[in-house]
Parts: sequence; C-alpha cells; structure tokens
Amino acid sequence: MSKKNVKIFLTGHKGLVGSSIFRILKKRGYKNIITIDKKKLNLLDQSKVFKFLKRKKPDIVINAAGKVGGIFANEKYQAEFIYENSVVQSNIIHGSYLAGTKNIIFLGSSCIYPKFAKQPIKEEALLSSALEKTNEAYAIAKIEGVKMCHAYNYQYKTNYKCLMPTNLYGPNDNYHSQNSHFFPALIKKIHHAKKNKIKQIFIWGSGNPKRELMYVDDLAEACIFFMHKKTKHSLINIGSGKEMKIKDYAKFIAKNINYEINFKYDKFKKDGTPRKTLNTSLAKKYGWKAKTSLEIGFKKTYKNFLERFA
Ligand SMILES: NC(=O)c1ccc[n+]([C@@H]2O[C@H](COP(=O)([O-])OP(=O)(O)OC[C@H]3O[C@@H](n4cnc5c(N)ncnc54)[C@H](OP(=O)(O)O)[C@@H]3O)[C@@H](O)[C@H]2O)c1
Repeated sequence: MSKKNVKIFLTGHKGLVGSSIFRILKKRGYKNIITIDKKKLNLLDQSKVFKFLKRKKPDIVINAAGKVGGIFANEKYQAEFIYENSVVQSNIIHGSYLAGTKNIIFLGSSCIYPKFAKQPIKEEALLSSALEKTNEAYAIAKIEGVKMCHAYNYQYKTNYKCLMPTNLYGPNDNYHSQNSHFFPALIKKIHHAKKNKIKQIFIWGSGNPKRELMYVDDLAEACIFFMHKKTKHSLINIGSGKEMKIKDYAKFIAKNINYEINFKYDKFKKDGTPRKTLNTSLAKKYGWKAKTSLEIGFKKTYKNFLERFA
C-alpha cells in the first residue's frame, strides 16, 4: 500500500497539535484521515471508543487528544488532568490493540521527567527522581501512557511510539487567561498592553525559569516521520534544542510586535521546574530534527492570533 493511502485515525484534530498534524497530513497528500468530533465520540467512553476502533480498523492512530494546560490549570484541576488523560489514552491504546492496530503515535510531554533531571534531559531520566509538584498529576498520567505503550510492545509485539515534545506554540493555540501555557499567555498580555497603551505588565513567577520552545508544525512533522518508522525505542524526545528564560521570551514578543514595555514579576506565583530542555540526540539518530526558527514560528503564530482575536 502506498504511504499516502494508510488509514490514519487522528484524535484531538481541533486542538493546537491535532490541527497542525491534520493540516500537514493533508498538505502531504494523505488521503485516508479519520477524525471525529468530541460531541460524537467522547474518548472517555470506553465502549464507544472500542467499537469505533473495531469498526474503522485504522492502520495508524495518532493520539493528539488530552486535557492540557499551563501551570495554573495543571495544579488547580489535577483530578481532571489525571483522570481524563489516563482514561482517554488507555481507551485509545487498548482499543487500538483490540482492533488490530499495530502502530500508534502517543504524545506525552517533557514534564514526565523529574524536576531536577540532568540537562539536557535524556529519555533514560524517566522515573529517576521526584516530579515537579504542580504538574505531577498530569505527568503521572502521561508516564502511565508511556509505560502502557512499552508493555504492549513487549507483550504483543506492537509498534507503539511515545513522542515527548517540549513546550509548543503555534496557530490555533489556547489563549485562555488562566488555563493557557506561558507563551500564548505572554502573547495575549503583551498584545493587550500594546492595544491599550499600558506601559507595564506583571509576569507570573520570577521570569527566570528556562523553557525550550518548539513550533507546533515541527512536532507534526515528527509525528508523520515516526509513524512510518519501526523503532527500537518506544520513548523519543522531540524538541528544538533552543531555550530561553521566560523573561527573555517576553522581551522577544514585545520587540517583535514593536512595543516598548516594562515587565514586573509576580513572585507570589509559582515558577514550576527551573529548567527543562530535552536531549534530542535519539530523534536525530533516527533522522528527525526541528527546523522552524522562533522568529518564523512567532510570525505565523501572531498572524493567526490577530486573525482570531483582533
Ligand atoms: N501544547 C503544548 O505545549 C504541548 C506540549 C507537549 C505535549 N503536548 C501534548 O500534545 C497533545 C495535544 O495537546 P494540545 O496542546 O494540542 O491540546 P489542545 O489544544 O487542548 O487540544 C486537545 C484536543 O483534545 C480534545 N479532547 C480532549 N479530551 C477529549 C475527549 N474526552 N474526547 C475527545 N476529544 C478530546 C480537545 O477537544 P475539546 O477542546 O473539545 O475538549 C482538543 O481538541 C497532548 O497530549 C499534550 O500532552 C502539548
């Protein structure tokens, strides 16, 4: 069968990651992409998910559905984060196995690694010491997904791959004032300040934690690249290799939207992990690397932000 005819079930196709994967699959000429709205198939519903997968029998499942958010949401809604992520992914992974689907791309997050992991973080750091408390519930759910894929590969000889992306940004991101990630939150705040001629804004935390950031289309490319690969490893880090302090991202955004502004730091808000940069040498060994610069990625992201909200 031609690569472009494989039957792919993509979950979460309206989200930041899923919509990027969908766009790029279409652009590349993939003809057989299955998506379904949450209203028609809530992935928390085990029997419906199992039936759907048995009926569709996809060759590949890419799971981009999940409950996702920034530091505030991760801490406040930790019960929802652990429950929804573990149930959705268990339904997808076990349902795919029952439907005879041998190939899954499971998406985790760099927060599965210990708070004080040696930098840049290698895949082997998993479970080597304690997690960051604010996102522990989310991380535990994701670790369960990783271990589940590993166990199914071991026992059932499947080819389930877990890609661990770093912080992402791009078109279609979530700009919710409390639940978004740090980068879209900064874009929204600085844009709002410019529009309303506000000359000083507060940034959550000290501004000092370092974050690696990657344009979402680079992750989409990684998903497409690895879905065609049979890999020896089931856990593979996906990152840009580029990191900066949160305060420097704020300065970058202000400069790139041409606005001079002062930043103050709300130190009563938590910082989270001090640094989390991924070691991506394993992905590079397989032949994948990120290619979008922050300047180009930001231009596309801000254009989309203006189209959606201005
Ligand atoms: N964003 C990042 O910086 C980042 C970084 C690393 C890893 N990731 C991983 O990438 C994946 C996707 O994240 P994202 O940023 O694209 O999140 P997102 O924008 O919030 O999209 C998630 C999608 O999943 C859907 N979904 C959630 N629960 C569902 C359910 N029960 N049934 C059906 N659909 C459901 C959501 O639909 P509704 O909106 O209708 O609920 C949404 O379309 C996640 O696994 C995440 O861990 C993201």
